[in-house]
Amino acid sequence: MDRNLALEVVRVTEQAAIASARLMGRGNKNESDQAAVDAMRRAFDTLNIDGTVVIGEGERDEAPMLYIGERVGKGTTSAPPVDIALDPLEGTNLCAYGRPGAISVVALAEKGNLLNAPDTYMEKIACGPGARGAIDLAKSPTWNLKSVAEALGRAVSELTVVILDRERHHELIAEVRQAGARVRLIEDGDVAGAVSTCFESSGVDLLMGTGGAPEGVIAAAAIRCAEGDFQGRLKFRNAEERARAKKMGIDDEHRVYRADELARGDVMFAATGVTSSDFLKGVRFFAQGAETHSIVMRSKTGTTRFVTATHRFDKKPM
Ligand code: FBP
Repeated sequence: MDRNLALEVVRVTEQAAIASARLMGRGNKNESDQAAVDAMRRAFDTLNIDGTVVIGEGERDEAPMLYIGERVGKGTTSAPPVDIALDPLEGTNLCAYGRPGAISVVALAEKGNLLNAPDTYMEKIACGPGARGAIDLAKSPTWNLKSVAEALGRAVSELTVVILDRERHHELIAEVRQAGARVRLIEDGDVAGAVSTCFESSGVDLLMGTGGAPEGVIAAAAIRCAEGDFQGRLKFRNAEERARAKKMGIDDEHRVYRADELARGDVMFAATGVTSSDFLKGVRFFAQGAETHSIVMRSKTGTTRFVTATHRFDKKPM
């Protein structure tokens, strides 16, 4: 994949972030999500790629746009074929209620290199580069906390763990607290939670717990670029999800996937803040435009760029 593509793809998340941020705090998650989807879909048409959405807004019959299998990009003969995992608005409720942590995200990989994750749950563990190799989802949370603390040369009591605030996590939260670590509960948005482990300034060391499986693949792509570590294991809610996954070629439901099995090869990742998170500021509007804050990363070079952009609506109406 051409390295310039990484800088092009950030336009896509910028447009989606601005569109959804315009509707931030209105209490209507569908409205802000739809605005993000429409804007992202339009922005993709400006990219010289032959893209296929492998993780998107759902099945073709459920989602009018950016559905799984949809082709996006200019698709010219010179356009590279790429697979895309996207979430135009990750944290729809966060945006609808003006809470921190909503982002717009896209991950790109060469064809066939992203796990086509079924729409189910995934148990996840993520950490930054300093603790790479120190996590093991097959082991207990306590074991992982001790191992990460040792890798970072810190005490467990000095670690902060991000966990989605869900009833299903009561035991996990209790165990993490018992082990002595700090817990930061988030209402939604475990992609931002996972990625924030890779940035020391976030103050977050680990993400633990169960969230969406598609979000797990997106997080794995980002974490590969940032050279952190991620593992995920699918968690089916019912027999129907299990059967669907089987149809998609997933036979071993207990398999623990590493980041490089969820997102293989050369991967690019871009995210723009919708509302502010631990590592990205949200969209700020001013009289004739908006300022966006994005991150762009490539696994091949490990380059991370923070892109602050000023968008002038008087010159380029949206
Ligand atoms: P949406 O953007 O689709 O609302 O997802 C937000 C999210 O919090 C994800 O970050 C997370 O993986 C998933 O939902 C958790 O699912 P649930 O709300 O069912 O626990």
